Amino acid sequence: MSGTLTTLQNDALATLEGVRDEAGLADWHRDVLGRKGTLSAAMRELGSLDEDARRERGRELNALKQQLEAAFEARQDAIKAAALNERLRAESIDVTLPGREPFVGNLHPLTAMIREVSDVFAHLGFQTVEGPEVELAEYSFDMLNIPKDHPARDVWDTIFIESDNVEITLRPHTSPMQIRTMMQQEPPVRVVVPGRTYRYEAQDATHEWHFHQVEGLAVDRGITMADLKGTLAEFARQMFGAGRKVRFRCDFFPFVEPGVDMSIDCPFCGGRGCRTCKNSGWIELLGAGMVHPNVLSNVGYDPKVYSGWAFGMGVERLVMLKYNVQDIRLFAANDLRFLGQFARARL
Ligand code: PHE
Repeated sequence: MSGTLTTLQNDALATLEGVRDEAGLADWHRDVLGRKGTLSAAMRELGSLDEDARRERGRELNALKQQLEAAFEARQDAIKAAALNERLRAESIDVTLPGREPFVGNLHPLTAMIREVSDVFAHLGFQTVEGPEVELAEYSFDMLNIPKDHPARDVWDTIFIESDNVEITLRPHTSPMQIRTMMQQEPPVRVVVPGRTYRYEAQDATHEWHFHQVEGLAVDRGITMADLKGTLAEFARQMFGAGRKVRFRCDFFPFVEPGVDMSIDCPFCGGRGCRTCKNSGWIELLGAGMVHPNVLSNVGYDPKVYSGWAFGMGVERLVMLKYNVQDIRLFAANDLRFLGQFARARL
């Protein structure tokens, strides 16, 4: 091969070696193999040669052309492969990495407990209803056999909403829903009423100015204290364990007669006495009683025909007992470290 061709070959292969990308490849192709490239220029010189030299030179040029084309293709393949490898590296995902766990919230322990209580009573034939938190004093008190200026009215430490002529309360208990329910329907009545309640009270570990209650009410012909005891004992056992003992003692609420409170034997010490039950072996759960005849009359039920029983209990207290929560203020403090602990508890 003549010196000029060798130079052409060396130059072309050397530049090709330095080409790094598709654009560089195209440039090289144009400069070497293109119509105005170095190889074509050498081809054009063939015409000035004589027969023998032209044949000889032509063969050399063809061989060189094939060599350069092959080199070009090899370089092109290499650059494509490198580009693909680089993309694979950059876009790689590590399939062995554990996925990101989505943040799943959970019900507030009070909501969960209200649902559990409703569920127990649903199976005993009770419907769940709800009522207003801003309530007429007439329903919070008067209709419940607690007349104005009666000393019993003070027991509820009520928050009153100012009003010119109608007395309005933030309901201090869920009992006004006894009145609303009975005024809306004829017996038989079987309802539970969960909801928020308010009292004008100093806060500490066991007192909140807002908390929750569940009211219960059953009215029909021939309802007796035995129905009250049987139903509430069944509730206590479903909630705190089949072995629970219940104890009823006399108590006073103006809207029931007789009135009682119900305790269960302490689930923490089995009744032997501990800190939670203050060494008494018993834990008070709720207030209850036979609906006062005056209350039945107030809503237009004939107390000679119908009788009933009612109860009211604190929801916070249920959760505190069941899960050993020490401070009632935690329920409204919005601290996820507390609330998140109930994510897996079956409330
Ligand atoms: N409403 C009463 C309270 O808040 C509880 C109660 C309800 C008692 C129904 C008897 C019957 O203390």
